[in-house]
Amino acid sequence: MAQEAVLGHLKRNQEISDSGVFSQEKGIDHEELVNAIKSLNAFGLVIASDIKREKWLLSEEAQSYVKYGSAEVLLFEAVPAEGTAKAKLQEIVKSKLPVDLDDKTKSLIYDKGWAQAMKNKWIGLEDSQVSRKVEHVEDKVKDLLIQIQNGEAVGAKDIDTLKRRKLISLQIWKGYSLKKGPNYTATRKKAATDLVRDHLQRDEWKDVEFKEYNFLAKGQPTEGGCLHPLYKAGLPNFFVKQQIQMIFLQMGFEEMPTNNYVESSFWNFDALFQPQQHPARDSHDTFFLKVPSTTNSLPEEYVERVKIVHESGGYGSRGYGYDWKREEANKNLLRTHTTAVSTRMLYALAQGPFTPKRYYSIDRVFRNEAVDRTHLAEFHQIEGLICDRGLSLGHLRGVLEDFFSRIGMSKLKFKPAYNPYTEPSMEIFSYHEGLKKWVEIGNSGMFRPEMLRPMGLPEDVQVIAWGLSLERPTMILYGIDNIRDLFGHKVDLSLTKRNPICRLGLN
Ligand code: PHE
Repeated sequence: MAQEAVLGHLKRNQEISDSGVFSQEKGIDHEELVNAIKSLNAFGLVIASDIKREKWLLSEEAQSYVKYGSAEVLLFEAVPAEGTAKAKLQEIVKSKLPVDLDDKTKSLIYDKGWAQAMKNKWIGLEDSQVSRKVEHVEDKVKDLLIQIQNGEAVGAKDIDTLKRRKLISLQIWKGYSLKKGPNYTATRKKAATDLVRDHLQRDEWKDVEFKEYNFLAKGQPTEGGCLHPLYKAGLPNFFVKQQIQMIFLQMGFEEMPTNNYVESSFWNFDALFQPQQHPARDSHDTFFLKVPSTTNSLPEEYVERVKIVHESGGYGSRGYGYDWKREEANKNLLRTHTTAVSTRMLYALAQGPFTPKRYYSIDRVFRNEAVDRTHLAEFHQIEGLICDRGLSLGHLRGVLEDFFSRIGMSKLKFKPAYNPYTEPSMEIFSYHEGLKKWVEIGNSGMFRPEMLRPMGLPEDVQVIAWGLSLERPTMILYGIDNIRDLFGHKVDLSLTKRNPICRLGLN
């Protein structure tokens, strides 16, 4: 409406000289008019020039002076010609003030009027008696306020006095003067944003005005293409994986092929000298496959050596002394650790002339766990191993210090632990600066002869190895305390969309 009024007016007139006046004439709210002007100006329909006006605004008190007279005059007039006791004056003044003023305003007028009339020496106080000191007073303040209200010029000294009495304050008023712009039309067409079927069918396209492209507009945030924090932070295929991969590569490690989630119990447990009655091999801890439930090929000679080492030992071991069952080894499962892959790699290595190797992998593993804040039924495991002659626990500690310091964990502690396939075994703890405590970050050890010798690796060859979950450092780095917020069906999509890329503390 305001836009039409402006365009319509400019059709008949050269200009609108003052948006303030125009808004009053047309009965349009000035703020609404200003918005319309800004839009018309932006599209070149009008040319708007700023007008700034300083305007004195009357305070509420000043407005009452205009109506009833200034406080000092009201007070002066209330003082009886013969004078009165000061004690009675307030009552007298109040009784003479207009009845429509409330008591609070009356008290205010009395206070201000008294102070000002005394200052003007219009009245005097002697022996508690108040009397007039002049015969007649003029209400100069009221007259000045009326002049100001009417927009008439008032001298600087008077302005100053009124300002000091807080009767007036300066207001800066902003408006515009307007002329036709280069794109002026009397009626504004709504610019189309898209060419649509109707434009073509009704032949409207010739006359339609199209909105210009705003190449600087930010655009809608994209809905897709966001990386999950775990992947951003690095795992299987992205940054963390890349970063950890870089660390392994810099340390001379080669990646192991981990592209088999399904594994046989043989490679996951038996070859690792994990006895068949071990609780980890229970369906409460491991997911067994229904179809296909068993493997159909295992390296038979090696299987035989593994059976013997379980049953009666060898290589300086007494074994477990139980009846090893092939059916148990055949059972298919979702691998519970990537150490199954390490085992396959070491076995393959043992089949040729021995060469030292450094292997690593980063991939998914599965455990039949009760899901809670820190456990899920599937997670990602980072695993590294070194196979060489004459390795010792000292080498393992050295490698771990080196590896973990490269992912930003340089304070490590080790605690003796137990794994069926390593001896000695160590849990790895890192000091967490944020949490100000030691947190367990991984597990490690030297593979037992019961595992390595049946493979055929030479007797002086040792393997040092360690494993950790990818989730753990990621949770620490992101400050996530519930793993379900990080991985699985309960993950908040906005976490994925908004989380920044998280870098490990690499050096
Ligand atoms: N397989 C172990 C685990 O699942 C990790 C590990 C790897 C331990 C290598 C020792 C040596 O936690």
